Amino acid sequence: MEFSLEHLQPKERASFALRSLYETAGCRKYHMGRFEEYSLYQENRSFLSSEQVITFTDLDGRLLALKPDVTLSIAKTAQPAPGETLRYYYHENVYRPSAESHTFKEISQMGLEVIGRVGEAEVQQAVCLAAQSLDALGAEWVLEVSHMGYLFGLFDALGVPDAARAKLLEKLREKNAHELRAAALAAGLDDTAADTLCSVLELSGDYAATLPKAAALCQNNAMRTAVAELNALAGPLEQAGGAIRLDMTLAGEMEYYNGLVFQGYLKALPRPLLKGGRYDLLLQKFTPGAGAIGFAVYLDELDRLSAPLPPVQKHSTDKVMLNVALPKGRLGDKVYNLLAGIGYGCPEDYNATRKLVVENPEAGIRYFLVKPSDVAIYVEHGAADVGIVGKDILTEASADVYELLDTGLGKCRMCVAAPADYKDDPSRPVRVATKFVNIAKSYYASMGRDIDIIKLNGSIELAPILGLSDVIVDIVETGTTLRENGLKVVTEFMPISARFIANKASYQFKHAEMDTMLEKLRAELQNKEEAK
Ligand code: PRP
Repeated sequence: MEFSLEHLQPKERASFALRSLYETAGCRKYHMGRFEEYSLYQENRSFLSSEQVITFTDLDGRLLALKPDVTLSIAKTAQPAPGETLRYYYHENVYRPSAESHTFKEISQMGLEVIGRVGEAEVQQAVCLAAQSLDALGAEWVLEVSHMGYLFGLFDALGVPDAARAKLLEKLREKNAHELRAAALAAGLDDTAADTLCSVLELSGDYAATLPKAAALCQNNAMRTAVAELNALAGPLEQAGGAIRLDMTLAGEMEYYNGLVFQGYLKALPRPLLKGGRYDLLLQKFTPGAGAIGFAVYLDELDRLSAPLPPVQKHSTDKVMLNVALPKGRLGDKVYNLLAGIGYGCPEDYNATRKLVVENPEAGIRYFLVKPSDVAIYVEHGAADVGIVGKDILTEASADVYELLDTGLGKCRMCVAAPADYKDDPSRPVRVATKFVNIAKSYYASMGRDIDIIKLNGSIELAPILGLSDVIVDIVETGTTLRENGLKVVTEFMPISARFIANKASYQFKHAEMDTMLEKLRAELQNKEEAK
């Protein structure tokens, strides 16, 4: 029988295609062992996606690690001579903690590194090879490009203090306009500067159409240099075949990169498949004066392509369907009624049946009725494109999603509450009962106070009444539950309301549909507010 590539898994086929692409482009295969000295990761923690690494002691007593990353090892060993450009590609396994399996996972990675003398031509070659890598995988794709120099240039121009930058990057990364503005003001920026920073959120769209908008916002040479570099890429990238988007919020993802950054998505995959950028600063730790640009392709993500189409997607329709995770209950009903009022209603009343999926193909909408605490999970994993979720649940889950709108619905506050006569005893840890373990931990950590946590799933107010805890951390809406159980608010520390969230990959392929829905929703919420 003749061997055919068709029999292979998508990730095996991809590895052949990418290998041929990189070899043809003049890159040499870089092979390395599975282990590396642990100190390399300890010294370059910020470069790793997780600080957790599998370590073991070698026969000679050295502390080694199973590689969590390939780029660092190449940067360390492949010392280019002055003026020399080295082009490597690799196909290796790395070992990282996986949120899904709650343990370490072996991840198959292919990637490319161009190091040494890295000028405009080398940068263009690397970014084009990233685009061609996506194109070789046989599905619709999007490459998002951004520039760290642009964002840091803007931070400098606006006088953003160093201590505030990480928070602002986080809000940019979430496309979280409402909290970005608040964080900018809290960092000491005036209204005009905060508005300028928020306008970065508009710099997301078709590459050629968005670049002039980015150019118009330039305030210093760092920003102009970044735009010039992005401009020079426009021509070569145009030939790549897929959708190239400029998205300045992407820079928030990648603090250790110092120039161009990019990320690739494939249709039907809920997470980016390719990530890369310019990392001169890291390389210069090992080879002074050298530059570097590279990217990694996460081949395991391709496993999804061989999974059968889920039943809900089998009824084909010409319209792009927006899948909405709707929290069951009062908040969900409120949101549904709002959406139905602006053209996203369904003929079937979901409250009249036990159905968990209702849809209206003509309106391009499909709702999933999910437990409120699961909304962010459905969206993060791409089972739903968008969802409506309380900020309490979103923060607790720290889901990697875009937070596109604060609907202002379901307003309440996260509080510490205790019996009316409660007095803190600083000589021992506070015993805290809560559903929100992560929120409670980070609140008390910010106060430098030791706690013991008791995780409960409901009726939290009982805990201090029965002596199970000293205090509770919970949401308070009207305050009735606290009052009727003899408790009082000690501190309010987080305003809560329902947020409109989106899966980051769905956003790449369905942003037009999402933007239309958001615009209508925003207008409707405004009308309701004005009518009050
Ligand atoms: C929430 C929260 C409080 C209550 C606060 O409970 O945990 O118990 O609402 O609302 P109030 O200030 O208006 O009284 P939920 O109804 O979700 O039920 P649970 O106790 O089972 O979590």
